[in-house]
Amino acid sequence: MSERTATAVAAYLDPSLPVPERVADLLSRMTVPEKVGQMLQLDARGDYEGDILRKHVGSILHTSPSRLKLAHDLVEQTRLRIPLLVGEDCIHGHSFFEGATIFPTQLGMASSWDPELIEQAARVTAVEAAATGVHWTFSPVLCIARDLRWGRVDETFGEDPYLIGELASAMVRGYQGSGLSDPTAILATAKHFAGYSETQGGRDASEADISRRKLRSWFLPPFERVAKEGCATFMLGYQSMDGVPITINDWLLNDVLRGEWGYTGTLITDWDNVGRMVWEQKIQPDHAHAAAAAVRAGNDMVMTTPQFFEGAQEAIAAGLMEEADLDRAVARILTLKFELGLFEDPRRPDAERATNLIGSAAHAAVNLDLARRSLVLLRNVGGTLPMAGADRPRRIAVVGPLADAAQAQLGDWAGSSGQADWLPDGHPRDMITTVLDGLRELTPQDWTVTSALGAEILSLVTPPEGETFPDGQPRPKVVVPRDPDEALIAQAVEQARDADYVVAVVGDQVELVGEGRSTATLELVGGQVALLDALAETGTPLVVVVMASKPLVLPQSALDAAAVVWTANPGMEGGRAVAELLLGQIEPSGRLPISFARHVGQQPIYYNQLRGQHGDRYADLTQEPAFVFGEGMSYTTVEYTGLELRSAELGPDDTIHARVTLTNTGARPARETVQVYVSDTVTSVSWTDKELKAYRQVDVAPGESVVVDLDLPVADCTIVDQAGDRVVEPGGFELLVGWSSRDADLLRVPFSVTGR
Ligand code: NOJ
Repeated sequence: MSERTATAVAAYLDPSLPVPERVADLLSRMTVPEKVGQMLQLDARGDYEGDILRKHVGSILHTSPSRLKLAHDLVEQTRLRIPLLVGEDCIHGHSFFEGATIFPTQLGMASSWDPELIEQAARVTAVEAAATGVHWTFSPVLCIARDLRWGRVDETFGEDPYLIGELASAMVRGYQGSGLSDPTAILATAKHFAGYSETQGGRDASEADISRRKLRSWFLPPFERVAKEGCATFMLGYQSMDGVPITINDWLLNDVLRGEWGYTGTLITDWDNVGRMVWEQKIQPDHAHAAAAAVRAGNDMVMTTPQFFEGAQEAIAAGLMEEADLDRAVARILTLKFELGLFEDPRRPDAERATNLIGSAAHAAVNLDLARRSLVLLRNVGGTLPMAGADRPRRIAVVGPLADAAQAQLGDWAGSSGQADWLPDGHPRDMITTVLDGLRELTPQDWTVTSALGAEILSLVTPPEGETFPDGQPRPKVVVPRDPDEALIAQAVEQARDADYVVAVVGDQVELVGEGRSTATLELVGGQVALLDALAETGTPLVVVVMASKPLVLPQSALDAAAVVWTANPGMEGGRAVAELLLGQIEPSGRLPISFARHVGQQPIYYNQLRGQHGDRYADLTQEPAFVFGEGMSYTTVEYTGLELRSAELGPDDTIHARVTLTNTGARPARETVQVYVSDTVTSVSWTDKELKAYRQVDVAPGESVVVDLDLPVADCTIVDQAGDRVVEPGGFELLVGWSSRDADLLRVPFSVTGR
């Protein structure tokens, strides 16, 4: 007799009962193996029949659409029929669902500095993912990107904790919608908690040498914000800090996250974090000890450590942990499932909803909006852009290896980027507009658009260490840069010579991006620098479109070019947005969420470095970045004048009221991002010279002056003191307002704060 018949009135199946009661009832019916299994999330590309039927897994990830139905059917055969949580990395769109809307990468989104738009993009992703039976996305990333060599810079919102907090919070709202009972809501995940990006030499997941005070100063605040705002789950970073892997970092997980912040959500490890303590970090002798340590530290869901199933049971048998230790974790997972209503409706894929919604025109419109807003104009000599053309037809040469590289344009975590095996050819080509497509489509009919590859980027070889890592995961192939190809360059140069403009689309591609794919260099790889040098020599106005996952070091020929635009990986609509920008159909409004270095040796180069060093440059190079945090141009000029405060003497509970006037002195409209930084003049511990504390986006029409009011609570003017407490120290401050983080771009006004 099945459990369901025997317990027709089982409390856990009664939706009218409160969730805690249902959880308690179900827990009381579960065996130890069922509880251990409930804590497991396994890769659905493995033996998922065995995983569901014999290991009783609570969750699966990377499930191809064709296998998802079977997974649900298998659950029907289990004793308690506990529904599965289906997880996926839908990190800039529903990444691995063919034909889903793929947005700019998170770093591209961040260039918009626009939380509302990012919330809309996350909502679209949730609606699409939910229709296909995904319940949980492993997004957003709240890591601070400081070392540009790191392979996952593209997944971040950049280098500033305040901006990260604003945008991550918007993304979480977008995913989780009006609450978990909303059938279009998916669980958000704040990752990778915490300090994962603070690598050694940019090497992925290496130990993070990071003090608790440093964590509290910059790395934790974005996480604290989303924890308090109800982000349903947190994913724990791979790395160790002070010798302790995050997975078992009692201070971080229990004192800070659960204790100080009162977080009651669910914790998931990253990929095989528990196993890694045995085979990689070698700080646990076997899987029983690793399982016990992870459970006791408060992990709820264990991602892809199959050995946890036996390990946890052995640990209980050996007295390394109690069954009750499992109950706490299992209760959290079950609570999520009840809150999502999965026992009543397991939210299987809904083919009709999916057909109507996935990649719909309305979703493409949001995507195009975000792609437009993500573009950052970095240089525009003498008004090269927008391209002129009213008087006579123009000829444009569109060259470079990324001008027409549809899948590369999507970046990592999309289609054929490598994490899923069911989309070998990526997303449908006709859903993606490349820069070449965009220019062909949007230039007037009597213009001529030619194209040439100009250069190749790389080829791949098998790593000398072998095809796989010790855990069986594939090793990324090794990149070998392609030599400049004289014939390809000559063809591009010939076209450039005959053209009014040459648009060179250069950057990186997915083999240089991602987990385990940090780069030692930041230069353009392969024949790209030689191509740009040769194009520059032609004298034709050179427009460099940098389609790069992260800030790269640009050669002098690009830094001196007539115009430079950074697009990150701009998603499916990216090429259209770039074409619109070059042709002046839209205004550039993106601002850098991260600094661009001049040389790889300048790492790290983020703007909010601590005060104090001997000198302010290298003997052989400036310390100035090539482009600074917050920078970005418009097709007009906007002057900032008259920064003033209503009161310059404030108490700790007051609000700073500032006012600045923006005047558009050019002929085109501007969307300005008015940036507000605070500088604490003297601090009890070393601190940074300025920190972004607020910003406002304001439209200013040509010739118009706009007075912008800026309000900032004094309570935000904090530092983290020696004891690790976040405090406002009474004394002198400056408010800095302007259009980038560069000192020369900021107006300043002093104010003082009294003590209590
Ligand atoms: C490992 C990555 O670090 C993480 O970001 C991702 O969510 C998981 N794999 C699942 O794919």
